[in-house]
Amino acid sequence: MSHKASLHRQQSASSVPLIELEDFCFAYEQNPVLRHITLTINAGDSVVLMGDNGSGKSTLLKALSGLAFAQRGSYRFCGEEVSERTMRGSFAKRLHQRVGFIFQDSDSQLFCPSVEDEIAFGPRQMGLPEEEVLRRVDDTSRLLDIEGLRTRAPYTLSGGEKKRVAIACILSMNPDVFCFDEPLAGLDAKTRAWLLGFLKQLKGAGKTLVIATHDQSLADEVADYFVYMGDSHGYEDRPHVHINS
Ligand SMILES: Nc1ncnc2c1ncn2[C@@H]1O[C@H](COP(=O)(O)OP(=O)(O)O)[C@@H](O)[C@H]1O
Ligand SMILES: [Mg+2]
Repeated sequence: MSHKASLHRQQSASSVPLIELEDFCFAYEQNPVLRHITLTINAGDSVVLMGDNGSGKSTLLKALSGLAFAQRGSYRFCGEEVSERTMRGSFAKRLHQRVGFIFQDSDSQLFCPSVEDEIAFGPRQMGLPEEEVLRRVDDTSRLLDIEGLRTRAPYTLSGGEKKRVAIACILSMNPDVFCFDEPLAGLDAKTRAWLLGFLKQLKGAGKTLVIATHDQSLADEVADYFVYMGDSHGYEDRPHVHINS
């Protein structure tokens, strides 16, 4: 499948477990943050993570993206173990290609001298031929309506523009899973509306979405089910999972 087709509906795989956490535990030094989490996310699911500040949403997204590892229990992606050990080998590249993480703060994600270098970075890391890299930069810039920003230095962009570029950097790798950390935080109304539409487009294309948010309208419009972190309870009648409580 060409990269351009990546936003077209993928073959339905709704009951295929993509992400399987079992008794997953993670602590920052002596501070246990993820406690005995057992959770399965199937291909094509849209999952919204909810919970108070500090309840571990960002840490869970880090774990799913292979940036924090099980200290007890396990994480399997497509049946393959994700651990400090397996992520030392070539599997790391594959996981980072298949699970994209869009940080809450775009500045933590943007480090190249120009927007187009930024978007090309992931595909180049994947070892794709330069012709394909450039095609992906063209396609994603068009899709995210940032063609006019291609030669700009990321630090000169507005918050909304940075968010589009940060998404483009992930989209250019054509991942199966998109982890969004508070995607609407700090954006103006116009950019929020655009991003909400874009998330629905990703969902419609069969992508798997894991979104940490406090935004009710985003949760209402995108979630197939909710995962509650900490002790938050009682959020409407969609299927949900309580963890860490
Ligand atoms: N890099 C880190 N080092 C130490 N503690 C951290 C780090 N990142 C987060 N924490 C702590 O882990 C807990 C969960 O944080 P986080 O995952 O960011 O929660 P949320 O995204 O739900 O607000 C908090 O107590 C936070 O202070
Ligand atoms: Mg957070």
